[in-house]
Amino acid sequence: MSSVVIDMSSLSLGYGGKPVILDATASIEAKDFVFIVGKSGSGKSTLLKSFYGEVESVSGSLSVCGVNMKNIVASKLNILRRHIGIVFQDYRLINEWTIEKNVMLPLIVNGFAKTICINQAQKLLKHVKLLHKAGKYPLELSGGEQQRVAMARALAHNPVLILADEPTGNLDDYSSEVIWNLLRSAKEFLGTTVIVVTHHIPSTINVNYKHFFIDDGYLHEII
Ligand SMILES: Nc1ncnc2c1ncn2[C@@H]1O[C@H](COP(=O)(O)OP(=O)(O)O)[C@@H](O)[C@H]1O
Ligand SMILES: [Mg+2]
Repeated sequence: MSSVVIDMSSLSLGYGGKPVILDATASIEAKDFVFIVGKSGSGKSTLLKSFYGEVESVSGSLSVCGVNMKNIVASKLNILRRHIGIVFQDYRLINEWTIEKNVMLPLIVNGFAKTICINQAQKLLKHVKLLHKAGKYPLELSGGEQQRVAMARALAHNPVLILADEPTGNLDDYSSEVIWNLLRSAKEFLGTTVIVVTHHIPSTINVNYKHFFIDDGYLHEII
């Protein structure tokens, strides 16, 4: 039996009366690796934001990890977000904090002891090949390095679900490869459900994935 992580039924999203996603019905199961593809402005980020409650539905239903997102109260949303790792295209690191402390953030929020936070942050920084820069600050790193830190942070608390918005959009080949390897490992070794929105699926990705496409507001699965 599979468990459904994201369940959309006739889901419509938009801003102030302007429709963006229309009547989307789809489900994503635990341990799926999913690409949602569409051209710029097609609604990829909007759909991803609805999965962590930053964009509310206009109509239809959406549940995430079994939680109904309609009119979700802030306290419930905060609890849900502790099970989700998020990677934005623009990294969103805290510039006043060291790299190591940035990676520790979700662990601190989840109330882990300091030694666990440090050990886990160091383990993840090693995975993204940045342990030697643990004491540096985000603005001392290149864009690709910052995105690798953001990816390490997103995985630090072993989330059940990772949401990544064009995570390799502006990156060099080496950083992109580190990120795809980490996402693939999260699915394969930790059983994490991975959802990536992108305008382009990398040809080198070596993982079984589900492929959705947004065209003119409609979400289609490509089988
Ligand atoms: N906060 C917002 N307010 C109003 N319109 C928005 C907002 N965010 C995105 N949009 C519009 O919604 C559409 C889809 O945007 P987005 O989801 O960011 O697309 P993508 O990520 O595929 O490039 C675009 O027309 C964009 O201008
Ligand atoms: Mg976008």
